[in-house]
Amino acid sequence: MAASRDKYSVLLPTYNERENLPLIVWLLVRSFEQSGNDFEIIVIDDGSPDGTQEVAEQLIKIYGSDKILLRPRAKKLGLGTAYIHGMKHATGNFIIIMDADLSHHPKFIPEFIRTQKEGNFDIVSGTRYKGNGGVHGWDLKRKLIRLVFHSCFVLGRGANFLTQVLLRPGASDLTGSFRLYRKDVLEKLVEKCVSKGYVFQMEMIVRARQLGFSVGEVPISFVDRVYGESKLGGNEIVSFVKGLLTLFATT
Ligand code: GDD
Ligand code: MN
Repeated sequence: MAASRDKYSVLLPTYNERENLPLIVWLLVRSFEQSGNDFEIIVIDDGSPDGTQEVAEQLIKIYGSDKILLRPRAKKLGLGTAYIHGMKHATGNFIIIMDADLSHHPKFIPEFIRTQKEGNFDIVSGTRYKGNGGVHGWDLKRKLIRLVFHSCFVLGRGANFLTQVLLRPGASDLTGSFRLYRKDVLEKLVEKCVSKGYVFQMEMIVRARQLGFSVGEVPISFVDRVYGESKLGGNEIVSFVKGLLTLFATT
């Protein structure tokens, strides 16, 4: 079979990920070299005070500026806009979005790519809630936050929404952020999306269904970070709920 000319641009948003960045990049490079797929890794750092950008500069020296691209922003502007910023610099025809804190393991990427090709999907979403997927290392706080998120979600939209989106196969993990998109599909979705923060993931998959894009799924295990802290604090929760309300009002 002729080698595929597809190229995968991995977007890695970072805020204080100095300890995690070298390992995630090494795992990514190794995975792509083993599978033989063309790739680039775009680090979108929001002015991390911990020196994440210096680490990224070192990684560029090691792996080359065609493989690692640093596209920073001046300050912490939120996860949703970080993806949009990164996407503008991407040269691949496919975009992979994932966390940089090792909660998303690059070993799943070949499965994302295989699934995409098999089903000719527009989007392949990692899911923690199907097959061998799962969540590991979550403390009580995380579990409670999740419970609150999902309660808001269910209450906010009611039975209609449940039937439309939640119960439809192909979108079992709405808040997950380990996904593969066709670049042109991602661009179209971003045009439609209003969310800026964490709710972005959910909005993307909801809009994808509305626009009739096809979604494949790959079970993934989400392992809570070892180094550093989740950036999901009180502010993010408030803006998540606000974002959800906006989403309900506009869908
Ligand atoms: N550039 C940039 N700017 N990066 C950010 C920002 C920001 O404002 N906020 C967070 N990040 C980066 C982190 O450095 C990490 O690489 C990734 O985004 C995810 O952030 P975490 O703070 O580790 O998120 P989490 O573990 O609490 O939440 C994860 O699980 C949620 C669902 O359970 C994420 O995957 C969420 O997207 C997801 O909704
Ligand atoms: Mn995390």
